[in-house]
Amino acid sequence: MKLCMIGTGYVGLVSGVCFSDLGNNVICVDRDIKKIDDLKKGILPIYEPGLYELVLKNKKNNRLKFSTNLKDSISKSDIVFICVGTPTKKNGIGVDLSQIFSVAREIRSSISKFKIIITKSTVSVTTGDEIEKIISQKVSKKLFSVVSNPEFLREGEAIRDFFKPDRIIIGTNNKKSNNFLKNLYSPLISRGAKYINTSRRSAELIKYASNAFLATKITFINEFSNLCEKIDVNIEDISIGMGLDKRIGGRFLRAGPAYGGSCFPKDTKAIANTADKFKTNLSVIKSVIKSNENRSSLLLKRIFNIVKGKIKNKKISFLGVTFKANTDDMRDSSCLTMIPSLIKKGAVINYFDPTGEKNEFKKIKNVSFSKDVNSAIKDSDLIIIHTEWNDFKSINFKKVVQNKKFKIFDMRNIYSSSKMKKQKIKYFAIGC
Ligand SMILES: NC(=O)c1ccc[n+]([C@@H]2O[C@H](COP(=O)([O-])OP(=O)(O)OC[C@H]3O[C@@H](n4cnc5c(N)ncnc54)[C@H](O)[C@@H]3O)[C@@H](O)[C@H]2O)c1
Repeated sequence: MKLCMIGTGYVGLVSGVCFSDLGNNVICVDRDIKKIDDLKKGILPIYEPGLYELVLKNKKNNRLKFSTNLKDSISKSDIVFICVGTPTKKNGIGVDLSQIFSVAREIRSSISKFKIIITKSTVSVTTGDEIEKIISQKVSKKLFSVVSNPEFLREGEAIRDFFKPDRIIIGTNNKKSNNFLKNLYSPLISRGAKYINTSRRSAELIKYASNAFLATKITFINEFSNLCEKIDVNIEDISIGMGLDKRIGGRFLRAGPAYGGSCFPKDTKAIANTADKFKTNLSVIKSVIKSNENRSSLLLKRIFNIVKGKIKNKKISFLGVTFKANTDDMRDSSCLTMIPSLIKKGAVINYFDPTGEKNEFKKIKNVSFSKDVNSAIKDSDLIIIHTEWNDFKSINFKKVVQNKKFKIFDMRNIYSSSKMKKQKIKYFAIGC
């Protein structure tokens, strides 16, 4: 099939590349000229394990192209996926759908034969109705169908999630579109993915309900970890004991820093706001948002306690600054709150992240980037393990760190407290 992905970010690029690997002809379009120029040269705008190899392979096969020409790319395609950003509005409440509507206006001037227009971006309920309205102002409804096909891939696992999804949700009442999409996804369905056809609004809501639930699960275990710290109980035991119950499940039940990334913070705010508009109070989700927003201050307090309040001139090293491991995504990473707060109190920060130096910290005085783990930690007073990259799982701290009184705060619980104790290392973890 001939596909056009509008928006070549995490979702558009990964899905476009993977669809081309399934044998489709794909054009990935973006308004960012540099991004497209780089992609044409084989330079990727994001870090995602396995993506580079697939880009090279499918470019070579001539099934994957990159373009900034939206009109031309749409006219050459049967199916158009909208994968642009849907950030939180500047006022901090609700979702900003301006990129979606601007694309819808561009699409309507490029339709001359039947097209399926799909929202892969996370959009609030009834956005599909709005897109249909915008396009039908200029184009006959017989020439297009607007479908919701929310994306559930996780950064860092995106390729695997694309090829082995738990489910594919297709929101449409249009039989022709449904048949087309069943065909498009047939290689994944034959590998065991469940294909669910719902109404367009249901598909839009399934995405928000899923993310809100996962954010709730993380927040739930994070709050329990606070209790564990007060009563000499290990949160890891609680996670295992609860997670083995099949009704609960162990995934997303690991305590750690505040959840971040490009989805959970914005999607929880968006769905709470949507529900308010429909005069429904999602009080659980509102509590989750509040609890998560408080989490970084709570962990900061813990850091102050660990250094006994003496933060001035303390050399603190962060291992990993993205919102989680295996991604270069800094959006809503809890480090963006914690590092500036520690700097304000007089700390000196050195960090290492396997995905390189971050623009977000380049202009902050007393924050520096180290090119490897050892140089990041060698002069440390306190080492904070912020993400669980494999690179951080077997460090010989005693050998590397020169200051013999160094401490470790492991925010991902990747080391064993008892082994640290045996080595006489002052080790602090989450929820124990
Ligand atoms: N990142 C994730 O893990 C993830 C997972 C599932 C769903 N989503 C959803 O998918 C959507 C996209 O997320 P993302 O992380 O890929 O965003 P992103 O910011 O990485 O990429 C969006 C891209 O769209 C481009 N763009 C914007 N307007 C355009 C236009 N008019 N024409 C062409 N290109 C345009 C931007 O230049 C950018 O490259 C969001 O709604 C997000 O909530 C993201």
